[in-house]
Amino acid sequence: MKSPIAVVVLAAGAGTRMKSALPKVLHSVAGRPMLAHVLAAVARLKPARIVGVIAPGAEAVAKAFAPHPTALQKKPLGTGDAAKAALPALAGHHGPVVVIFGDAPLIRPATIQKLVAACRRAGAAVGVLGFRARDPSPYGRLIVKDGALEKIVESKDANAEEKAIDFSNSGVMCIAGTEIAAFLGAIGNDNVKSEFYLTDVVGIARAAGHRAIAVEGDEEEFQGINSRAELAIAERAMQQRLRNEAMAAGVTMLDPDTVWLSADTKLGNDVTIGPNVRFGPGVTVASNVRINAFCDIEGARIASGAIIGPFARLRPGSDVAEDVHIGNFVELKATRMRRGAKANHLAYLGDSDIGAASNIGAGTIFVNYDGYGKHRTVIGDDVFVGSNTSLVAPVKVGKGANVTAGSVITADVPPGALAFGRARQETKKGRAAPLRAKLQARAAAAKRGKGK
Ligand code: UD1
Ligand code: CA
Repeated sequence: MKSPIAVVVLAAGAGTRMKSALPKVLHSVAGRPMLAHVLAAVARLKPARIVGVIAPGAEAVAKAFAPHPTALQKKPLGTGDAAKAALPALAGHHGPVVVIFGDAPLIRPATIQKLVAACRRAGAAVGVLGFRARDPSPYGRLIVKDGALEKIVESKDANAEEKAIDFSNSGVMCIAGTEIAAFLGAIGNDNVKSEFYLTDVVGIARAAGHRAIAVEGDEEEFQGINSRAELAIAERAMQQRLRNEAMAAGVTMLDPDTVWLSADTKLGNDVTIGPNVRFGPGVTVASNVRINAFCDIEGARIASGAIIGPFARLRPGSDVAEDVHIGNFVELKATRMRRGAKANHLAYLGDSDIGAASNIGAGTIFVNYDGYGKHRTVIGDDVFVGSNTSLVAPVKVGKGANVTAGSVITADVPPGALAFGRARQETKKGRAAPLRAKLQARAAAAKRGKGK
């Protein structure tokens, strides 16, 4: 049996360059906090434990780590000091410890796995994931000699020769659980930043006669986020990845670069997505669904055969059954549309349940809010709601009922009934011409009066 691994996620840095009231690791990438991306990736390694390292007062970050425990780094004295804060929580753990940063959300589980496996194979006490950086200037450099990792030199401490090296530290490290306390304890802060560098464990391990290795990965996975500009770069990379995964799973995108997905977006095969569609968090789409251009969808479930948009907005709680049609400028919120129901044009359908095969006419509004509370509209199966109708909730329309166009419905309509909620029309034969003559004479008299 392989010894189990533990993971330490560092998230106590100040994150000053974000200029934000929100802790850096809680900023979202693809609709999910970057820390949640890192946690999802490490969870795939099935570690025996995950420990977060947070700054004092970072309750929101502790919450994002839950149910995993967190350790407190009292002052941001560097990554080495942060890792040390996790030691008490690692007591009794003897397997490999993966130390990873909370601000690099693009890391893939397989890559971390590759590092752990390489360390086990080589019997290395320290392993580091490295990459060839297009611009290595912000990164620590990996100094490799004869296939072994000798040390890591931080950019600010590097000499000219070391600065020329492009092999860079990703920040993901694997350290033998039996040695980690000794290694971290030996880190000093005699460097340009007067910080305790986690990266020093490489040199410390080597000096104590241990093996250290570097495993190469792809730069795309290791982009750290320190500023809003880097956040945007990571977002773009994550979107590209999610689009490619969706297309590989059988989704057609007419213009992939304009489709915005969330990390948890679930799309069935033979889903077709038009240009400029955004999926917020919590969307599940079954197979054979067409989503036309310019739709905004969040917190919604869409069943097979549905056609959505163009220009539709599905807000949280939308539950769209098989073969439903939702057309342009239709907004749904907390609304269930059952099989084959249609709302093809210009409607607001909030807090409601719409029965199978019912038709909601253009301009229909479910008046769900009275300024204080929200109320429900319940429409049975096979109901026809004529155009430009307001249904003032709470209200029910029974199965097979007809609501005539232009109605304001304030009372329940029983099954099979025909409801008029408008003034009755009066038509007066031959009265158009006399009315026009009267109006014309009046206008002429007014003009003469002005001329005097
Ligand atoms: C670090 C590495 C560098 C590597 C780069 C990769 C060190 C000394 N340097 O530099 O070699 O190339 O990441 O992106 O490790 N943190 C704490 N407490 C602290 C300081 C940092 O928890 O006192 C956490 C931060 O929240 C962050 C992570 O550690 O998640 C990295 O810190 P950061 O300051 O961004 O390190 P870099 O300067 O980018
Ligand atoms: Ca960083």
